[in-house]
Amino acid sequence: TQQIIIDTDPGQDDAVAILLALASPELELLGITTVAGNVPLAFTSRNARIVCELAGRRELKVFAGADKPLARPLVTAEHVHGKTGLDGPVLPAPSMALQPGHAVDFIIETLLSRPAGTVTLCPLGPLTNIALALQREPRIAARIRRIVMMGGGFFEGGNITPTAEFNFYVDPEAAALVFGAGVPITMLPLDCTHRALTTRARVAAIRGIGSHLAEVTAQWLEFAERFDEQKYGTEGGPLHDPCVIAWLLRPALFQGRECNVEIETQSPLTLGMSVVDWWGVTQRRKNALVIKDVDADGFYALIAERLARL
Ligand code: BDR
Ligand code: CA
Repeated sequence: TQQIIIDTDPGQDDAVAILLALASPELELLGITTVAGNVPLAFTSRNARIVCELAGRRELKVFAGADKPLARPLVTAEHVHGKTGLDGPVLPAPSMALQPGHAVDFIIETLLSRPAGTVTLCPLGPLTNIALALQREPRIAARIRRIVMMGGGFFEGGNITPTAEFNFYVDPEAAALVFGAGVPITMLPLDCTHRALTTRARVAAIRGIGSHLAEVTAQWLEFAERFDEQKYGTEGGPLHDPCVIAWLLRPALFQGRECNVEIETQSPLTLGMSVVDWWGVTQRRKNALVIKDVDADGFYALIAERLARL
């Protein structure tokens, strides 16, 4: 099994990613760390626990992390995810407590106390916590097995500005720091996630599992879909964050290549843009495996198969 930490700002698609990880025996979830992003930190920390309880996993460790980006005011996305970040189905308030201590300390302590090269970080929101951990304890860089993140977009453009994807836009300084840290990275950008659409048939297949958890998942997908369908004019919306977990489970479903990626932190026009050297026109260091495509049917089949186990 692979040991992972999920760093997240749930978010309906973050929630599905957490469930996919919990349903997968190949992965051992050491802890969930929360960050401000789609909604403020109090909501993302609450939502992470709601998801754990939905899966019947009250013993999981959830740590709250950064409540704002490194150097900027927080930008949120209630227009996509609703006021709570997890709008859609009505779910009970969580009864499990947050862990004492800060998410960044948990990330550092976990990486220092476990064998080097064994722990994979899975950021599904702005990269603030990961950047803070690397800043505070640079020795962790050599110990992280890989950072597998959802963020960025290149040929596909952006979803919060014409050139920036939300997670990188919210904390561009953090994203730049992470891409410069020398850690192996897999990046799942909009170019990939916009091929993984929540069509009616795919949502129906999840609902067809017949469990309460599957019904809740279907309603989450339908909630986020309403916004994205209108925006993109597609049947269904993109299901971003579960691509991170699916890549860990079935990398053969995805296609990409090693590239240099740099993050824009200065220009007001292109702030947070991921500048991906897809064609290798520079000599800059290849610092990420950038995924451009996914077998969407295989991806949804994996999700349905796994959610049926919970
Ligand atoms: C990313 O932003 C959030 O809205 C989603 O949860 C995903 O992580 C997509 O740009
Ligand atoms: Ca997210």
